[in-house]
Amino acid sequence: NMEDKLEVIKNHIKSYSDFPKKGILFWDIFSVLQKPDIFRILKEVLIETVKTIQPPVECVAALDARGFFVWTNHIFRTEHSFRANKEKGKTTGKSDFLFLLLGIRSRFTAHFYNGKGGKEDIVEIQVDSIRKGQRVLIVDDLLATGGSLKGACELIKQLGGDIAMCLVVMELEELEGRKKVSTSVTSLIKL
Ligand code: PRP
Ligand code: MG
Repeated sequence: NMEDKLEVIKNHIKSYSDFPKKGILFWDIFSVLQKPDIFRILKEVLIETVKTIQPPVECVAALDARGFFVWTNHIFRTEHSFRANKEKGKTTGKSDFLFLLLGIRSRFTAHFYNGKGGKEDIVEIQVDSIRKGQRVLIVDDLLATGGSLKGACELIKQLGGDIAMCLVVMELEELEGRKKVSTSVTSLIKL
């Protein structure tokens, strides 16, 4: 069942302390993706979870870059169209963009998994990629401070998308990142 599958996945997520810098515990989704048997279980769980969303999602927006790796495989098995939420400067065509929160990360360096402390990030997407009212699922590997999901949500809303859900594989609950995200967030594994 679902709980057993999640337990197996969780047991295969490696963490690295003091990476990429001192004080940061890095949770590595690639330790799951590298094992075909475990990745297959993750894919099953993702597909099951997406199927429960009602009304059904019409479009999946994945965050650059780890969100792509986790989710592209799911896209190929479904009829969802795929939207790339890219980091600044990587989008072809005319892009809309949004600023993520500044300075939040540096306050959490003792717990935070990411080394980009205090840096302002930008996500962008092709402006014509979402129809007004289209039901969008936003996906990523990890929810930490919530800056990335918050940015992605605002971006999709600016384009008129209707966010069905944010779905991540891992959530660092201690950081309370979901408080920053206005849309409902589902995480498979709490760390
Ligand atoms: C990581 C992770 C999430 C984000 C979560 O991405 O893949 O996207 O951080 O952090 P937050 O909740 O504090 O925003 P990263 O910026 O390291 O880039 P990558 O996916 O390209 O490796
Ligand atoms: Mg990322």
